[in-house]
Amino acid sequence: MKNIITLGIESSCDETSVAVVRNGREVLSNIINSQIPVHKQFGGVVPEIASRNHVEAISEVTKQAIEEAKIQYGDIDVVSCTYGPGLVGALLVGVSYAKALSFALNKPLVGVNHIHGHIAANYITHKELKPPFLCLVISGAHTHLVHIKTYTEFEILGRTKDDAIGEAYDKVARTIGLEYPGGPKIDKMAKEGEANINLPHTYFDNLDFSFSGIKTAVLNLNHKNPDVNKKDLCASFEKVTTDMLLNNTKKAIKKLNISKLALAGGVSANSYIREKFLQLEMLEKIKVYYPELSLCTDNAAMIAAAGYYNYKAGKLSDLTLNAIPNLKIN
Ligand code: KG4
Ligand code: ZN
Repeated sequence: MKNIITLGIESSCDETSVAVVRNGREVLSNIINSQIPVHKQFGGVVPEIASRNHVEAISEVTKQAIEEAKIQYGDIDVVSCTYGPGLVGALLVGVSYAKALSFALNKPLVGVNHIHGHIAANYITHKELKPPFLCLVISGAHTHLVHIKTYTEFEILGRTKDDAIGEAYDKVARTIGLEYPGGPKIDKMAKEGEANINLPHTYFDNLDFSFSGIKTAVLNLNHKNPDVNKKDLCASFEKVTTDMLLNNTKKAIKKLNISKLALAGGVSANSYIREKFLQLEMLEKIKVYYPELSLCTDNAAMIAAAGYYNYKAGKLSDLTLNAIPNLKIN
């Protein structure tokens, strides 16, 4: 069988990334130009600054990805890019660049849903992983329990009704004086604290989530008592939010009667979450998969992996492809 070389482009938020992936699973290069140092001073991502930085970086990042993969432009079989969800101005940079490249090389263009990309990061780390499986997508903008039926068919079983879990991590971090993005810093501080502060859990009858209650509780608590032990607060926040994730995931495993669970998205880099979900392997007799740490947060290798499976399924785009900021999973 001929090798398929997919170029992936990711520009939905604050990472300009371009990758080259062989047959959807083997990463030949994955260049990530992070804008975090730029946005840090504003405490979060500034959309206009993000788009401008994507424009400035994308040509050089693409050149680096081609060089590191040791290929020529002519070796590319498929050009894929994130077209949503994300910041419209940021998405447009990657979409326009991918369209131009696809046109110039006369190679198929494949638009990729960013969430499908996060899920597909697992295919790179686990060469044997195939659908069907259950996936818990936890990122800065999303919290979804998804049934991955095939490589290109998805059903949402539950989602957050308000804040995404990563958003709650970042807001809590900001309140206690940690720099953006706060998730990794909370992860570190929680390790030195005790989960001894009472915080509210939110559960529903269905598989939906809510994180605004606990976020507000932490904000109020810190406001009323600025001397509260920050390490204990981080550990307590992490424990309660992880319990909420575990609770719904266990219900979904039963509902689907499924034996494979994957985690995906930036928050799946969290060490406490990884440890707790690994314990499910024993408890629920299932196999649990995570992307390797470097593939949890935004990167283009995951976009190329998802793009490859869209291409195989004949889901191609054309030059009318546009950025869709609120693109849904299905
Ligand atoms: O997937 P991602 O790069 O962007 C979105 O698609 O939203 O996720 C970024 C999110 C941020 O909220 C960041 O704080 C969080 O992932 N994050 C973490 C950790 N590493 C990144 N949250 C908790 N623990 C971590 N170790
Ligand atoms: Zn993401």
